[in-house]
Amino acid sequence: MNFVRVVAAAALLAFAVPASANAAAEEIKFPPQNWSFSGPFGTFDRASAQRGFQVYSEVCAACHTVKQAYYRDLKGIGLEPKEIEAIAAAVTIADIGDDGQPMERPGRPSDRFRSPFPNERAARAAYNGAYPADLSVIVKARAGGADQLYSLLVGYDKPPADMKIGDGLYYNKYFTGHQIAMPAPLSDGQVEYADGTRASVEQMSRDVTTFFAYIAEPESEVRKRLGVKVVLFLLFMTGITYAVKRRVWADVH
Ligand code: HEC
Repeated sequence: MNFVRVVAAAALLAFAVPASANAAAEEIKFPPQNWSFSGPFGTFDRASAQRGFQVYSEVCAACHTVKQAYYRDLKGIGLEPKEIEAIAAAVTIADIGDDGQPMERPGRPSDRFRSPFPNERAARAAYNGAYPADLSVIVKARAGGADQLYSLLVGYDKPPADMKIGDGLYYNKYFTGHQIAMPAPLSDGQVEYADGTRASVEQMSRDVTTFFAYIAEPESEVRKRLGVKVVLFLLFMTGITYAVKRRVWADVH
């Protein structure tokens, strides 16, 4: 009898403790979106990711680094080698020449995405001390993932009447503390899409989020395909093993 009581108390504790610990901080809920790339069979919507790259290039790249990404990674969102060469060649990269002196040259597919600032201190100096985070793995680095990035981009609004917003800060429903040093980066019609898609804030946010989800994990489609193969193989082996077992033991009664 005692044993049952101990087990019951332990079970209660296990459920009760995390619940009360969570209640302390205000939790921001990010409305879940439908992403082509979620789930074990998900793939990146190529057209959306390409539009997202355009939004990144024309908007976000002015302030944010994406240090872990290489121009050659754009192959994974369906761009041709020639297109990638042209995109890389259009940016100027600081390098060291054969004479050992600093020089500038056109980018190559093997270059990392160009940084808008030489380093973090220069970026902070430009933004009143705030740092435009590196976006290489932002979709993986925040608990809310793609939903969180999307929400942040569409989350600018008028602040509630009783809230005082600090200097150089903007109200955002989905940022911790609701005050962010990033001015709303997107407004309707900010970019012109070549494929004729209407560039609403929601559309651009979706596209750029798809792009950053890809950049955070360019290998994820390969990994998922391998996972499916491994599961199929294991199922197949289970079947074979069972058949062999039945045959080997068939005469034992
Ligand atoms: C004018 C410069 C500027 C532009 C353009 C800009 N950002 Fe920012 N961004 C900032 C700054 C500054 C911060 C830091 C905000 C803070 O800490 O309060 C920031 C913060 C962020 C964060 C929050 C990071 C975190 O720590 O959770 C994300 C995500 C983000 N930006 C994404 C984007 C995306 C995507 C774009 C393009 C659509 C973009 N930004 C365009 C300046 C910019």
